[in-house]
Amino acid sequence: MTASGNSQPVAVVTGASSGIGEATAKTLAALGFHVVCVARRQDRIAALAAEIGGTAIVADVTDGAAVEALADGLTRVDVLVNNAGGAKGTQTVADADLDDWRWMWETNVLGTLRVTRALLPKLIASGNGLIVTVTSIAAFEVYDGGAGYTSAKHAQAALHQTLRGELLGLPVRLTEIAPGMVETEFSVVRFGGDQDRADALYRGMTPLVAADVAEVIGFVASRPPHVNLDQIVIRPRDQATATRKFTRPESD
Ligand SMILES: NC(=O)c1ccc[n+]([C@@H]2O[C@H](COP(=O)([O-])OP(=O)(O)OC[C@H]3O[C@@H](n4cnc5c(N)ncnc54)[C@H](OP(=O)(O)O)[C@@H]3O)[C@@H](O)[C@H]2O)c1
Repeated sequence: MTASGNSQPVAVVTGASSGIGEATAKTLAALGFHVVCVARRQDRIAALAAEIGGTAIVADVTDGAAVEALADGLTRVDVLVNNAGGAKGTQTVADADLDDWRWMWETNVLGTLRVTRALLPKLIASGNGLIVTVTSIAAFEVYDGGAGYTSAKHAQAALHQTLRGELLGLPVRLTEIAPGMVETEFSVVRFGGDQDRADALYRGMTPLVAADVAEVIGFVASRPPHVNLDQIVIRPRDQATATRKFTRPESD
């Protein structure tokens, strides 16, 4: 790719076609990174890459060959943001849908593993690599109807935190970003496309927006090389835990 041949640092953002990933790609581009925007929806990442002067690479993080091709196409990687992921369904454990569980584990856990492993040599070779993994408060809390997602996010966080120790002595920093409620396409995806149900979740409270999280990732990426922000939890003021939020009464 063109940008890897020059001196501009390169950031790879997975799940850049919407929400936190899209906002993060914009933030990192504004900070001077050449951003490689990765997702499955080609039209969206192509438009984003054109807007921010980056590169769009279509890759499904659940597809090993696609992830290898992504890595092979890059000669330089300074920052990796493992953001692709999400939730499907709200079934109890008793009624668990195995396909939904497989989707969540494949995307959040094994997707993060595949992309991280494929890009790790280049992150180390950069001399000042950074891996940001977007987990969730679901990485350290559980709630009824959430086991498929909370177990996947717990596992994704364990993978990320293990790497922190395994890479000691190498020039790579690792930051886990654990957001609470952020209004993106997340809930629409979780509820199978039911926009009304997603809207109802945020009614009467003020959730985070994607840019709130992206700004924090930008702060992380602009610290000096010896400073490692290990874990950052970011929630709306209206949310205390995964199950406790403040809801204002309807005014009309
Ligand atoms: N929103 C929240 O409340 C919240 C809270 C805590 C943590 N998070 C986490 O934040 C991350 C981003 O979510 P979001 O809120 O921004 O949701 P979103 O708007 O639904 O974005 C999810 C992104 O992941 C990408 N993606 C999904 N499956 C993929 C796959 N197999 N391969 C490549 N890309 C894939 C999607 O792109 P394509 O569909 O185009 O592939 C999309 O760009 C997720 O890891 C999520 O678990 C979200």
